[in-house]
Amino acid sequence: MTTKIVSWWLLILFIANGWWCCNSCWKEERTALLQLKANINYKIAGDYLPSWVANETSDCCRWEGIVCSNKTRRVTELSIIVEKINQEEQFSTLTGTNTDDSILENWLFNASLFIPFKNLKALLLPELSLADWVKNEGFEKLRRLRKLETLDLSGNKFNRSIFESISQLSSLKSLNLSGNYINGSGSNTWFSLFASLNY
Ligand SMILES: *[C@@H]1O[C@H](CO)[C@@H](O)[C@H](O)[C@H]1NC(C)=O
Ligand SMILES: *[C@@H]1O[C@H](CO)[C@@H](O)[C@H](O)[C@H]1NC(C)=O
Ligand SMILES: *[C@@H]1O[C@H](CO)[C@@H](O)[C@H](O)[C@H]1NC(C)=O
Ligand SMILES: *[C@@H]1O[C@H](CO)[C@@H](O)[C@H](O)[C@H]1NC(C)=O
Ligand SMILES: *[C@@H]1O[C@H](CO)[C@@H](O)[C@H](O)[C@H]1NC(C)=O
Repeated sequence: MTTKIVSWWLLILFIANGWWCCNSCWKEERTALLQLKANINYKIAGDYLPSWVANETSDCCRWEGIVCSNKTRRVTELSIIVEKINQEEQFSTLTGTNTDDSILENWLFNASLFIPFKNLKALLLPELSLADWVKNEGFEKLRRLRKLETLDLSGNKFNRSIFESISQLSSLKSLNLSGNYINGSGSNTWFSLFASLNY
């Protein structure tokens, strides 16, 4: 009788943990990655992040830009790096022009998309033309990522108003905001900030 109850409990625990789904990465995290990809993709021509595929047997821990914990298989590092050259190629083949910074236009940052990555330690989003966040889906939401230590937002289009939001990320230890619009509106001043923030 007791054994039965114990095994039921174990089963419930496993299901609650999502262990039943796969011995690769976590299903909820794979789904979240695909959502993220779709969110970035909406203004981009062609495919990029080709390893990020909706395939149940594909281990998202092996996807490009993803690092998982060997123990928990949860995503600990997430980087989205788009090759500048590819962007230009795709852009010019599509439109015949060659403006090098407009392919991504202004991606609005929907911070909710990152919430499923509960063990995330590093988030690297350089050169993605991030300009702002979606209303009510702002950086405050990233506060729920209590292990987030490294944030790279270099080469985006954030201005000074980003500091207020970032100051709420209490676990943050390193921040790269170089190449944003920090000094005044419109002027792309090379502003390098790499601080050790110890709260
Ligand atoms: C899913 O991935 C496996 C191997 O990773 C591959 O054999 C299979 O063909 C893929 N399925 C689809 C529908 O792409
Ligand atoms: C995880 O395992 C891989 C392969 O065994 C190894 O290369 C890597 O260093 C390990 N990562 C950590 C964080 O221990
Ligand atoms: C932001 O992402 C979340 C999670 O996917 C979604 O529920 C929400 O609708 C998105 N918000 C906007 C404004 O797109
Ligand atoms: C910050 O980002 C810029 C541009 O990506 C890079 O050149 C620089 O090395 C980064 N700084 C640090 C301290 O990582
Ligand atoms: C800074 O960015 C925010 C959000 O995009 C915007 O509302 C604000 O007007 C900008 N401030 C300046 C000085 O450009």
